[in-house]
Amino acid sequence: MHNSAQNGGQTGSSGQGALQVQDVTVRYGEFVALRNVSLTVNPGEIVVLLGANGAGKSTLFRTISGLQRPVSGTISYNGENITGRDAAEVIGRGVAQCAEGRMLFPELSIQKNLILGAFIHRRDKNGVNRGLEEVYELFPILRDKRHDAAGSMSGGQQQMLAIGRALMARPQLLLLDEPSLGLAPLVVEQVLEVTRRINATGTSVLLAEQNAYAALQIAHRGYVMENGALTLEGSQAALLGNDAVRSAYIGV
Ligand SMILES: Nc1ncnc2c1ncn2[C@@H]1O[C@H](COP(=O)(O)OP(=O)(O)OP(=O)(O)O)[C@@H](O)[C@H]1O
Ligand SMILES: [Mg+2]
Repeated sequence: MHNSAQNGGQTGSSGQGALQVQDVTVRYGEFVALRNVSLTVNPGEIVVLLGANGAGKSTLFRTISGLQRPVSGTISYNGENITGRDAAEVIGRGVAQCAEGRMLFPELSIQKNLILGAFIHRRDKNGVNRGLEEVYELFPILRDKRHDAAGSMSGGQQQMLAIGRALMARPQLLLLDEPSLGLAPLVVEQVLEVTRRINATGTSVLLAEQNAYAALQIAHRGYVMENGALTLEGSQAALLGNDAVRSAYIGV
């Protein structure tokens, strides 16, 4: 790391929603997709992971979520080692991922898509109904359209649905993989504003973004990933003011 002007949020990495990734390496066959990646999300923080196409952001998210096994390294959540746990177990502990590309069921209703987000570990009807209420409160448009097919909504609304589905798991840590992809600037602002509101309720957020300037408006801290390795970390202000970040990701 060249820069470690860190810690905009709370300190301590074993409270609720705390993630610690240590020296994680992931391979796809011979190809090394992540090389000794170490990153922390402290309770209550929004941490942004910046990086170009193919840097390895989604690979890291899938590895944290238990969808991809690291060849070495450790992932701890709330102080507990979760390396190599399967995805259902990781969700059950309070880590939910909103995957890149949304992964909705376009022909199913909005409400059915939401209920599927709760399916794995909240089978009780009261829990599901409570979750729906919370999501509808955050996104009133989803309540209005709850019986419509998910695929009938705009891209921005579908992104809200994808986030809402992840929230159905009542996560303490939300992994948001490029939520602004393909959305118009105004809608990007809305998605990030919702992310800020979710964080304000106490949920930690790890946000992968290429849209660095917008993401850094809401993030406490961030990391830059290049070719599978972290090359820079810093506070919101340090990254916004960093020349390399500005020229590579902000276009200044
Ligand atoms: N299942 C896979 N098998 C082989 N290689 C893969 C696989 N998934 C991703 N890769 C490769 O690993 C590298 C990292 O990909 P990854 O999707 O993690 O990057 P990313 O930062 O999320 O990119 P983007 O911004 O385009 O989403 C890329 O070179 C990609 O081609
Ligand atoms: Mg990706």
